[in-house]
Amino acid sequence: MTMEGRTCVVTGSARGIGRGIAERLGREGANVVINYRTSEGPAYEAVDAIEAAGGAAIAAQADVTDRESVVAMRERCHEAFGPVDVLVNNAGLTADTQFVEMTQSEWDRVMDVNLGGTFNCTQEFYDDIWNADEGRLINISSVVGKQGNFGQANYAAAKSGLFGFTRTIALELAQGGSTANCVAPGFTRTDMLETVPEKVLDRIIAGIPLERLAEVEDVAAIVNFLASEESSYITGEVIDVNGGMDL
Ligand SMILES: NC(=O)c1ccc[n+]([C@@H]2O[C@H](COP(=O)([O-])OP(=O)(O)OC[C@H]3O[C@@H](n4cnc5c(N)ncnc54)[C@H](OP(=O)(O)O)[C@@H]3O)[C@@H](O)[C@H]2O)c1
Repeated sequence: MTMEGRTCVVTGSARGIGRGIAERLGREGANVVINYRTSEGPAYEAVDAIEAAGGAAIAAQADVTDRESVVAMRERCHEAFGPVDVLVNNAGLTADTQFVEMTQSEWDRVMDVNLGGTFNCTQEFYDDIWNADEGRLINISSVVGKQGNFGQANYAAAKSGLFGFTRTIALELAQGGSTANCVAPGFTRTDMLETVPEKVLDRIIAGIPLERLAEVEDVAAIVNFLASEESSYITGEVIDVNGGMDL
């Protein structure tokens, strides 16, 4: 087990990629905080799954765009497990539409969660990460942040914004011995892809050298490595998990 005794917060981890990350960290011995906004039932199922595997977890409701609820989540983490070693900013959403038709609200919503939520959580947990022995900040970006994607100007801007943010925090955290990295998954089988028509998914898969979508476990494996003490000399990086989409 690579995460014994370490406390990890994973935002948006009741389902999808976040759930996969939380369960993997739990199996590796971490104390895990399952953050949810609306998925209360699945959040408690995730806690049960981690406990059934011998780990420790709590569920903590917070909307990452709402600073006060992030503060309350931090207090709940501290009460349960003490200071946090690892923050995974995973909560995210899309509001896709071609740019000429994009509304201010579609732009703002995507920025507020993907980028603003990362700002709020990173600032509230910054002291914990700084003071931790081998603290870790891991931001979940996307291949779309690198390549762009038709109908996703808002999401691409938010996800590439995470690259500059992560590199800067990596510089600022370095003196304290903690690291910050980004993981940029390719298209991954979760609810987020539910609105993408099968035909479009087939075209996407045809363009992936490894000829399949990512599974949440593919992303969880690299996050687990970055969260562990084994990654201590890697910081400010963007790690692609995209089946070779850049090749
Ligand atoms: N799926 C993909 O193809 C793909 C590819 C690359 C990157 N990503 C990124 O990976 C991350 C996870 O995506 P996913 O595919 O797992 O998405 P998903 O299945 O749609 O799940 C989204 C998660 O984000 C949470 N969330 C949304 N808004 C929130 C808020 N304001 N506060 C707290 N939590 C919030 C949701 O919580 P509730 O359910 O509790 O509301 C949910 O747990 C996102 O950052 C996404 O951009 C996904």
